[in-house]
Amino acid sequence: MTEKQLSELLQDMTVAEKAEQLVQLNGDFYGGEDFLTGPAAAFHLTDNKAYRLGSILGSDGAARLTKLQDEFIKEQPHHIPAMFMADVIHGYKTAFPVPIALGASFDPELVRETAETAAKEASAAGIHVTFSPMADLARDSRWGRCMESFGEDPCLNSKMTAAMVRGFQGENCGDKGRVASCFKHFAAYGAVQSGRDYNVAELSERTLFEDYLLAYEAAVNAGAEMAMTAFNTLDRIPCTISRKLLRDILRDKMGFEGVLISDYNAIGETVIHGAAEDSRDAAEKAINSGVDIDMMSDCYLNNLEELVKSGEVSESLLDEAVMRVLKLKNKLGLFENPYKDASEEEEKQLHCCREHMELSRKAAAECSVLLKNNGILPLRAKKIAVIGSLCESRDIVGSWAIFADNSKTVTLRAALEEVCSDIEFQFIPSDTPDEKAIAAAKSAEAVILALGEDQLGTGESRSRTDISLPEGQKRLFEEISAVNPNTVVLLFGGRPLAIPEIAEKAAAVMELWLPGTAGCLGAADILSGKASPSGRLSMSFPYCSGQLPLSYSAFNTGRPKDNGVKEFIPFLSNYMDAPNIPLYPFGFGLSYTSFEYSPIALDRDILTADGGITASVRVKNTGDRAGKEVVQLYIRDVKGSVVRPLRELKAFKKISLAPGEEQTVSFEITEKMLRFYDINMDHTAEKGSFILYIGPDSTTENRTEFRLV
Ligand code: NOJ
Repeated sequence: MTEKQLSELLQDMTVAEKAEQLVQLNGDFYGGEDFLTGPAAAFHLTDNKAYRLGSILGSDGAARLTKLQDEFIKEQPHHIPAMFMADVIHGYKTAFPVPIALGASFDPELVRETAETAAKEASAAGIHVTFSPMADLARDSRWGRCMESFGEDPCLNSKMTAAMVRGFQGENCGDKGRVASCFKHFAAYGAVQSGRDYNVAELSERTLFEDYLLAYEAAVNAGAEMAMTAFNTLDRIPCTISRKLLRDILRDKMGFEGVLISDYNAIGETVIHGAAEDSRDAAEKAINSGVDIDMMSDCYLNNLEELVKSGEVSESLLDEAVMRVLKLKNKLGLFENPYKDASEEEEKQLHCCREHMELSRKAAAECSVLLKNNGILPLRAKKIAVIGSLCESRDIVGSWAIFADNSKTVTLRAALEEVCSDIEFQFIPSDTPDEKAIAAAKSAEAVILALGEDQLGTGESRSRTDISLPEGQKRLFEEISAVNPNTVVLLFGGRPLAIPEIAEKAAAVMELWLPGTAGCLGAADILSGKASPSGRLSMSFPYCSGQLPLSYSAFNTGRPKDNGVKEFIPFLSNYMDAPNIPLYPFGFGLSYTSFEYSPIALDRDILTADGGITASVRVKNTGDRAGKEVVQLYIRDVKGSVVRPLRELKAFKKISLAPGEEQTVSFEITEKMLRFYDINMDHTAEKGSFILYIGPDSTTENRTEFRLV
């Protein structure tokens, strides 16, 4: 449709029709036998009104959605098709590693490719919009939704978020095989206090702008068609009714022009927060703050029309919101073809096809992080006991892989049997150190212990106060490693866990996260040596829960402990019972080969506002195997009008090197990279000295200095 036709359509709609376009209910409302007595009754939906609404969430399948769309077109007075939205977070039928794992790939192109593949599968199943990516920065692994984040770092998070948006949408979300991307949760959901889900977030405005908003902005700049509000309050205002966040920052400052949707019942919950009187008040606050679509509350459904008629909400504001919804439908091509790519035939061809399963396997290999290796990996042992219930579990794809075809999930056992067919395995899927497990461990040359969390242990509303392993698993490790020192620990889960004992005593530790449908094959490729590990941590691994929140990008304080300052007074910024530094730092991960870095070479050491410095290192593969290295660039601003972090990631490159091969890796440093929110909250770079680090992780001491003049 042309803009003119869209305007004419809008003009021809009644207020009630317009309001209906701004309501989204979930799939349970449609087609169930108890429709009128069940969920619909609770929402006072007494007739076929559900079929006049603008969009639905959480339903899939070409057959079902085609049928539903016919109903929508029939019931809606102007035959406006519905948009079908769903959580396609890290794959659709074929699940890829969870986002925290994808972050660890340090490979935006891989992330783009997984999103593109997910879009192909999901669009064939009739889905138009995905509620992804989650751009929330996560620095506290007590929060179960770390799993859905690309991690603790604004630069990594922004690059991955943008890559994912591009992967879903391509050039145009209306193209075949594409879906529109809805980034979330605006804003600072990852900063929920104490890591408890839905809790308040308290951040200084500077920290919000400096760290937390960057990835959302990257999504806007990558052209994401939609955004979702967050459940939490920020500065004591529920994000879903915060004009400052939604209008001043998201729309005016960031320039977001797409459709803004609330999170699930988040408008209704503002009453429970104590920030709105009732659902009518909540609806008025939300729409006036800029929320276009109300997801799964009855606030807009039962109040919006009246609010417009009473003048509390202006019709022009309503029109703006509806127009955004109509425009997105138009972009998706729904007025011409309301089913878009829905095709039962293509579902069969695409879902979990060989190519997608291969990508799932490859992605898991890129995302796995080798944390320790005394040389036992790649495996040479020929008789191995594999112990732990996770070795035979299919619950390893991730709690948001809600549509994944679990019948295709490759367990660790199946993967090891397929990839390492020359090894004699004994599998004991037990989480307690029973006699069988101990006997198997004793008689084997090596043990693989599968520990950590399955997909139910992590995700939404899965916060923990203690992120160490369960007692049973700890005992299992103690007793098994006592009888067989060649114990390799494979860690599953969606967050950094505290594993100091394992780090100390295991022969090797590898983080597999929740690797996805064919992910265990990727892990087996690494264990067997067919692939070399190249994942790097997207979040710091703490020693213990008490260190949280934790990030490498910390501040010196006046009395630093672990930063080489001489301890001339006994009162330091430290803990009496744990170090300040993490067990494994951000950016860290081992390979089967070794890399050597040259000192940093700069083409000049003075930077001007309109110039640039080229910084280069030569990286050499000094081992005898091919491998990939993530070359990471960090900058420290030595002194500022406000205190500056000890270092910040500004760029990275993942490179492949054959044995003995050497490559020069160059980065361009610009004044823009040095900008921050100064004492006046101006985004600017201040003149002075900077320390530049280029190396394999966030603790590298390969450094040099330059000045901004
Ligand atoms: C609630 C979650 O917070 C959000 O991330 C998700 O997209 C919606 N539910 C819809 O399922």
